[in-house]
Amino acid sequence: MAHRHVINTQIAILGAGPAGLMLSHLLAKAGIESTVLELRSHQEIAETARAGILEHGSVKLLVDSGVSDRVVRNGDRHDGIELRFNGESHRIDFQDLVGESVWLYPQTDVFLDLAGRRQADGGDVRYSVTDTTVHDLEGEAKVWFTDADGVDFELRADFVAGADGSRSYCRSLIPEAQRKRYFHEYPFAWFGVLAEAPRSSEELIYANSDHGFALISQRTETVQRMYFQCDPDEDVNNWSDERIWETFRSRVNGNGFELKEGPVLDKTVLKFRSSVHTPMRHGKLFLAGDAAHTVPPTGAKGLNLALNDVKVLFEGLDSFYQTGSTALLDTYSSRALDRVWKAQQFSYWMTSMLHTPAEADDFQRARQLGELNAVVSSHHGRAYLAEAYTGWPGAR
Ligand code: PHB
Repeated sequence: MAHRHVINTQIAILGAGPAGLMLSHLLAKAGIESTVLELRSHQEIAETARAGILEHGSVKLLVDSGVSDRVVRNGDRHDGIELRFNGESHRIDFQDLVGESVWLYPQTDVFLDLAGRRQADGGDVRYSVTDTTVHDLEGEAKVWFTDADGVDFELRADFVAGADGSRSYCRSLIPEAQRKRYFHEYPFAWFGVLAEAPRSSEELIYANSDHGFALISQRTETVQRMYFQCDPDEDVNNWSDERIWETFRSRVNGNGFELKEGPVLDKTVLKFRSSVHTPMRHGKLFLAGDAAHTVPPTGAKGLNLALNDVKVLFEGLDSFYQTGSTALLDTYSSRALDRVWKAQQFSYWMTSMLHTPAEADDFQRARQLGELNAVVSSHHGRAYLAEAYTGWPGAR
């Protein structure tokens, strides 16, 4: 085998998405070294369209840790959402119910802020690496990889953080007999549209209708993001602009509300599922973000959960290097999973309450409307939604 250049670090981080970069940033601030390895190029990650809602706790983490205040300068604070069903809108007033807000700020911008901060601070982040393999998790952990210039390296580290996304390689390093996969598949997907049009509403609209679910989100003054429930096997090529707008009209228009339309700039089908892989820690390996769990986008929890994992993991690592105690590392998995399962419940609930299964019979459809009505007509129902959507208090 060709010679490998040996480099030493404290934490080897696989994945330069928001989870991996945020962990590296927090560690650097505490004087703990890390190297981040990423298979994709910087450009590829920056061009991946993702959801755009940040809980107040996620915003606080980005701002307080000094990543960037762009989220509060350029992002939009949202104090509520609208739930629309039976042709009528019902506002869930977050400020009034729980005194919190969320920020609309696309994940791409979170990535750019984090990548920019790591670069400005001289962080070791290597994009476009190949042939990444992890060795000796029981002894001195090593990560072999080939960098973008084709040079082979051996990265030696105290710990490995697997922040390598939903198709995680790191996850497979946990012996099969010791891990468990929880999984739920949904009989629908989202048809995502980016359209050139003015905003149709101040706040996001989550609409349930006999024809299925639709979500009206936003990006800028002139570009809007929206989604409608579709079949997982839907082909975007079968959808003309007119057919897309006709679908949105049938799901959200009515009672004086009319969606503003315009040229469709991009269309994609997003498949989704709920999954959790436990435990999130095995010896020197810690999983964070999508590598350990995925949620349907209805609750907008994916990125927020990833940032929470990283915060909890950072506390454990920081405490270990400061005191030598592994106590917080030992409870990482259960402390992170506490919020993961709350978010799984919320995302599942929002998804099943708002989407209309193609095979739903009259009873199921009427029951669903009963559920929506029960939520919006009850202070407690609205408060549960508001608390979950804006984000529960941090992990203990
Ligand atoms: C988005 O703006 O892309 C978005 C917003 C809220 C969601 C999902 C996606 O629940």
